[in-house]
Amino acid sequence: MNEPPQIIETSRLRLRFPTIEDAPSIFEQYAQDKQVTKYMTWQPHSNIETTQEFLQQSIEDLTAKNYYLWVISPIEEKKAIGMIRLQLDNYRAELGYVLARSYWNRGLMTEALQPLVNWAINQPDIYRVWAVCDIENLASARVLEKVGMTREGILRRWLIHPNLSDEPRDCFCYAKVK
Ligand SMILES: CC(C)(COP(=O)(O)OP(=O)(O)OC[C@H]1O[C@@H](n2cnc3c(N)ncnc32)[C@H](O)[C@@H]1OP(=O)(O)O)[C@@H](O)C(=O)NCCC(=O)NCCS
Repeated sequence: MNEPPQIIETSRLRLRFPTIEDAPSIFEQYAQDKQVTKYMTWQPHSNIETTQEFLQQSIEDLTAKNYYLWVISPIEEKKAIGMIRLQLDNYRAELGYVLARSYWNRGLMTEALQPLVNWAINQPDIYRVWAVCDIENLASARVLEKVGMTREGILRRWLIHPNLSDEPRDCFCYAKVK
């Protein structure tokens, strides 16, 4: 399989691999925001050190755990306003994503995800590009529809979203297959 592109440019966004220098803008833009983290698997960061540790660990894990991360920036700026994660597992590619609240509802996450969905499904060895979201996360479900995935059903008690409950919650499962 080919390596995914390190840099992706769309009309409004630039996606690139993260560095530890992204920690301050990740913290300021979204990691401390309770509304952004509501449906995430992690709790909002209370200080920048938490963001630095989280980013350091994520970067160290990249090769070992077979996933890729892209920071999302407005095309003419350096600051990180979001992140996309692509986890490769044999013939499957799973996507996760987050965007700072002040950028929501302008089609930006759809624009950021689409090239990665296209890249993944065009790999000869990848047959399934998929993602899950909490059944109450309707904006996320809509994004997955807009990038061409189909809702396959509900994975009961699939993920713990600790900002909502200590118990695993039901998630929609979306996929694009070939
Ligand atoms: C989910 C998220 C990535 C969406 O990013 P975005 O850039 O706002 O997405 P888009 O603008 O491309 O699309 C959002 C769609 O959801 C719709 N939407 C937004 N809020 C909604 C709501 N409460 N109910 C139903 N639809 C909603 C918008 O109208 C839009 O659909 P449309 O284009 O048909 O009008 C962003 O809200 C986010 O980062 N949330 C917090 C982190 C998160 O939940 N990540 C996903 C975990 S699975």
